[in-house]
Amino acid sequence: MKLRVMTAFGILAAAVAVPGAAPAQTQATAVVRADTPGPVYDRRIFTQFAEHLGKGIYDGLWVGPDSPIPNTRGFRNDVIAALKQLGVPVIRWPGGCFADEYHWREGIGPKTKRPVKINTHWGGVTEPNTVGTHEFMDLVEQVGAEPYVSGNVGNGSPQEMAEWVEYMTAPAGSLADERAANGHKAPWALPYFGIGNELWGCGGNMRAEYAADVTRRYATFVKAPAGTRILKIASGANVDDYKWTETMIREAKGQVDGLSLHYYTVPGSWPPRANSSDFGEDGWAETMSLALRMDELVTKHSAIMDKYDPEKRIFLAVDEWGTWYASDPGTNPGFLRQHNTLRDALVAAVHLNIFAKHADRVKMSAIAQMVNVLQAMILTDGAKIALTPTYQVFMMYKPYMDATVLPITVEAPAYTRGQWSMPSVSASAVRDKAGVVHVALANLDPNKTATVTTTLTGLSARTVSGQVLTAPTMTATNGYGVAPTVAPVRFTGAKLAGGKLTATLPAKSVVMLELR
Ligand code: AHR
Repeated sequence: MKLRVMTAFGILAAAVAVPGAAPAQTQATAVVRADTPGPVYDRRIFTQFAEHLGKGIYDGLWVGPDSPIPNTRGFRNDVIAALKQLGVPVIRWPGGCFADEYHWREGIGPKTKRPVKINTHWGGVTEPNTVGTHEFMDLVEQVGAEPYVSGNVGNGSPQEMAEWVEYMTAPAGSLADERAANGHKAPWALPYFGIGNELWGCGGNMRAEYAADVTRRYATFVKAPAGTRILKIASGANVDDYKWTETMIREAKGQVDGLSLHYYTVPGSWPPRANSSDFGEDGWAETMSLALRMDELVTKHSAIMDKYDPEKRIFLAVDEWGTWYASDPGTNPGFLRQHNTLRDALVAAVHLNIFAKHADRVKMSAIAQMVNVLQAMILTDGAKIALTPTYQVFMMYKPYMDATVLPITVEAPAYTRGQWSMPSVSASAVRDKAGVVHVALANLDPNKTATVTTTLTGLSARTVSGQVLTAPTMTATNGYGVAPTVAPVRFTGAKLAGGKLTATLPAKSVVMLELR
């Protein structure tokens, strides 16, 4: 069987799977072109998304200053420390769907006077508004990140949005005085502002034409004080809604700096019904295949953007991605609580590799979500936390932040399971500012090791070292309050000889190599 494989920088390669008995080990080849470096792998690709949803904010991040769980001004120290370790660059808040019903004035001033609302999107539970603008900005500062605030286009007015921006950023005036009276004299930097969220759905069920007009209108009133800049991000397409992208960029490109795209990996189709931790090889293969679809989506949305914005002024922000399974049994279905396994780790690696290929257009992405929701970095259980397999992959890719992408092509045998067939190896490469080259190789085949022989052009490396993340089972996960077992360990399966790099990847693994 022959499979056409799209590889980094759009180069096509033919991959051949040998008919007959399948070997337990496969062979793949790759070429890293260090002599033709590409764009920067923007650190904002590691943005995190924190919505008022389930235990994403309350319990997950915020426990309150009186909690027995150690905290700093209400935010739990263990979670903050883990996020700092990750180097989270940007946090997107307060939603998601929640954003288009959020009224910022309800989240400022004395906490006891803030209205308690119903979170209509997520479980119908009460929203105490305890975490509002000041608390979010404190969270961002504690983590060492930048804020990405999503405005309310759905049921808020342009005036409300403009006043929120002024409240956050103005150096003087009544709103600045009110901010100071509420405890923060200095204006906050607001580098990113979302003009609503999913305007095609929970943000107002708008048609693309109407949403583009609304975006132009609302964005007009988002004004940065002199000497500062707010990058405005338009609500982008759902999955393969190319008409949305075309309409939005054509009509609103003069008013925005970024355009979003949302695509979730949902095995078993919508609504999510697949179990997050109890699955077999079919569930593995379907999930990997769906994750790889991000490449096709970004390619096609980018091509449309190229038509209207050939100079690539407007960036693509894939600001919601990740796995979405059925909520864990016994939990509120509206809380989107799911387990996180080795499968999710591979999904994360696949996405981070795809974003390298499209780093000329994708300058921001946000996995959904940061804590306790969907494909989370961190899960909490009372006072205990688990740093998920996804978190571990993000740690492995940390050197990618602001490094230079090196084109990589791969020829790999197909991994096939039932109706699902895909290249078995996903890869990317970067050179960091210190000149160290990092090569990421993920073996999506859960049964076979893969030996990848890589030609390095324009690079004479003397040493190779690395890390590997794998586990005995596809469903392996990390427990609460114990050392993670799905975590990177030293990798000894790579060598350099005759100008080539050879690495033998365990089945179902992510390997990150360092070449010096
Ligand atoms: O991440 C969960 C939800 O998914 C977000 O609120 C929404 O934007 C998307 O549909």
